[in-house]
Amino acid sequence: STDDLAARLAARIRDVPDYPKPGVVFKDIAPLLDDAEAFAGLVDHLAERARALGATKVVGLEARGFILAAPAAYAAGAGFVPVRKEGKLPGALHRQSYDLEYGSAVVEVQQDAFTPGERVLVVDDVLATGGTVEASLDLVRRAGAELAGVVVLMELGFLGGRERLAPHLGGAPLEAI
Ligand code: PRP
Repeated sequence: STDDLAARLAARIRDVPDYPKPGVVFKDIAPLLDDAEAFAGLVDHLAERARALGATKVVGLEARGFILAAPAAYAAGAGFVPVRKEGKLPGALHRQSYDLEYGSAVVEVQQDAFTPGERVLVVDDVLATGGTVEASLDLVRRAGAELAGVVVLMELGFLGGRERLAPHLGGAPLEAI
């Protein structure tokens, strides 16, 4: 069941206190990725969600989102699209800045990444404040795609990402495994 999968995956996520800075508990997915069975279970689940939601593209958010979204896209028979941090993509781009705790960051997507109205699934490892996903949803919409859903491996509920994203989902589901 999905609950069994969630428990198996959660057991393979390592909490690293005070990384990358004091007071932050980093969610390290390396023990999950290097476990063949856990990684396959996660990718199979993401691919199933992509198919069920009718997504023809899976969007991965740099960098750890790439590791999950690319194999899920392949397994679902969908294409893969990277949302990248500033300055990494060539050609005509959509750009969106978002606030960090200190300062701001920019994410970008290629303007021709989607066909008009194409359904896309957005995938990332961790939903924290929701700033990264919020900016990415804006890019997806501006690039002419329709949001089929958002799936994250884990959600840090105390940071309020789900509430922040609610007005940007247009009725599409936000799922945490
Ligand atoms: C982490 C994580 C998410 C984002 C979540 O990525 O992988 O993409 O932060 O935070 P938010 O919900 O508060 O926006 P990070 O910026 O560390 O990038 P990386 O995957 O390239 O290390």
